[in-house]
Amino acid sequence: MPEDDIGLEARLDEQESFEPPAAFVEQANVSEEIHEAFEQNWPAEWERAANLLSWNSEWDQVLDDDNEPFYEWFVGGELNASHNCLDRHLDDRGDEVAIEWIGEDDDRRSYTYSELHEEVNAVAAALRELGVEADDVVTLYLPMIPELPVAMLACARLGAPHSVVFAGFSANALAERMDAADSGTLVTCDGYYRRGDPLDHLQKAREGLASVDGDVTTVVVDRLGEDAPSEVGAEHVFGDLRDRHAGATVEPVSRDAEDMLFLMYTSGTTGKPKGVKHTTGGYLSYVAWTSHAVLDIKPEDTYWCAADIGWITGHSYIVYGPLALGTTTVMYEGTPDYPHKGRLWELVEEYGVTQLYTAPTAIRSFMKWGAEYPAEYDRSSLRLLGTVGEPINPRAWKWYYKHIGDESCPVVDTWWQTETGGMMITTLPGVDRMKPGSAGPPLPGVSADVVDSRGHPVEAGQAGHLVVNRPWPGMLRTLYQNDERFLDEYWQTYSNPDRDEWVYFPEDGAKLDDDGYLTILGRVDDVINVSGHRIGTMEVESAIVGVEGVAEAAVVGGEHDITGEAVYAYVITADGQPETESFREAIVEAVETDIGPFARPSAVVFTPELPKTRSGKIMRRLLEDIANGDELGNTSTLRNPDVVHDIETAVGEE
Ligand code: WTA
Repeated sequence: MPEDDIGLEARLDEQESFEPPAAFVEQANVSEEIHEAFEQNWPAEWERAANLLSWNSEWDQVLDDDNEPFYEWFVGGELNASHNCLDRHLDDRGDEVAIEWIGEDDDRRSYTYSELHEEVNAVAAALRELGVEADDVVTLYLPMIPELPVAMLACARLGAPHSVVFAGFSANALAERMDAADSGTLVTCDGYYRRGDPLDHLQKAREGLASVDGDVTTVVVDRLGEDAPSEVGAEHVFGDLRDRHAGATVEPVSRDAEDMLFLMYTSGTTGKPKGVKHTTGGYLSYVAWTSHAVLDIKPEDTYWCAADIGWITGHSYIVYGPLALGTTTVMYEGTPDYPHKGRLWELVEEYGVTQLYTAPTAIRSFMKWGAEYPAEYDRSSLRLLGTVGEPINPRAWKWYYKHIGDESCPVVDTWWQTETGGMMITTLPGVDRMKPGSAGPPLPGVSADVVDSRGHPVEAGQAGHLVVNRPWPGMLRTLYQNDERFLDEYWQTYSNPDRDEWVYFPEDGAKLDDDGYLTILGRVDDVINVSGHRIGTMEVESAIVGVEGVAEAAVVGGEHDITGEAVYAYVITADGQPETESFREAIVEAVETDIGPFARPSAVVFTPELPKTRSGKIMRRLLEDIANGDELGNTSTLRNPDVVHDIETAVGEE
């Protein structure tokens, strides 16, 4: 196997490939010349993206790179995101559906563009009355209910950046993010259903608020009615505020292209989550453009991205991209197997879904359940399939292509990150040949490469670190109030400021295929990807070492058939602490309390020692190998080689 000096093994997949289906090619939004157009005319060609939007005033400059890597895009332009997602569609598409919402309890709601516009205006008026002004960060701690996109667009209308905290995050995680963003307004809800049971979300929000510095104005959406485990008290009620402001008109606040549209916290190598800052002009242009070019969205489509708006995929490709293009976007609150395993396909048939965008984890579950579920429903409306969030193995890719797309829909495997704002590496569905397991070439206008540890491009067939060599409009502008960390995390590794070379390092490994396609190998930092959720191992470790009786902990990702990776925690107990089942439970609970249930370790392994180098560094690769049951590499550099056997035995007993 080709292996480079970074130590990544390239996967030697058979190089099978598929041409884009002819019927798709004929109607595709973009065609072959697009690659060339961007090559010839960079960065000016990016105006193509900006031109998908309505601007209050045109930009004077496409890209300002005077102060690298603090790039600015569409400089001098002014626009409002809520106007772009709503008002400008009213004349032509006011009566068309903007959002089709399917609640877990099979409650349904449809919002036409006019109705959504009305809701957003009322909520913007209410937020303004509560004191929210341009540039105030509003935290939205909401599950997949329509009030979430309504609140996002209301914030955008006021020029107030939102910071959405995924509803599965714990009270502590909410508080940490609110404090970091100095956010004085919170919109949350009383609760929501999961597999039919009401969850007490308000209780969690209140617990979080108890430790937030300063006063917070709180608004609560009444989702559960009589089923709500906690009653709304001193908080404002979302529905009452909206009703009181029904019919209000709030003029969209004109924003500079570089003004912040939102903040999104994500996990990195160190303990504290990173506040990724996205802007109004560059981000919105980028997600509209990629929705057009890659998802092939047309206004008459019924497009479904089955992600959660609490993560970047939902921001870019449930809310901003599709609504900017005036299409119908489907929002699904439930899980794919509730009330039955054919649920998604039943909804595809019922709504005539044209594009489906989901994660490899979901596809691997569908595979496990069996092709008989999708086979029961009419999926002929589907035109395109997409995946995001983690590497997709060729087997899952082919299953998706065959059993969901009936071999007539192109599959786009889109590599991108919270930081990139939108898709970066993927085939264009009506243009490029598809190769299962390989994301594809960089998008037109995007320049990516694979390098060795000195930053030199690797030869075809080799693996190394993925890097991005040119700026792009959707890129993060900085980490909120922390330019230094922004430089350290993303630019320091491979840039050469003396030579004015700025290289973005996404902290993923990749293999450069012979044909220039990129096969993504996954994170090379201390981030684990469980079901497409980014989890920082340091965050999990810090939750675990906070438990009384824990002396030391190391957390790594082990392979998992369905979720891609799973969290493995190796724990050394303090003297006198018995290694009991209940102690193991306490450790798992601590992770749930500090982060959220999605980060819970699937294995807690008690060990007398951790494998360390002579300089005292924990050898994580070895712990990963042990978790995966792989043959162990060289252990001779360990200070304590005997420990490996003990840990293997402990894992075996788990
Ligand atoms: C991983 C989600 C392989 C990658 C949009 C990246 C992928 C991280 C793919 C970002 C893909 C995303 N193939 N790996 N198509 N898409 N990833 O910030 O490791 O939640 O760095 O953004 O997911 O996760 P994030």
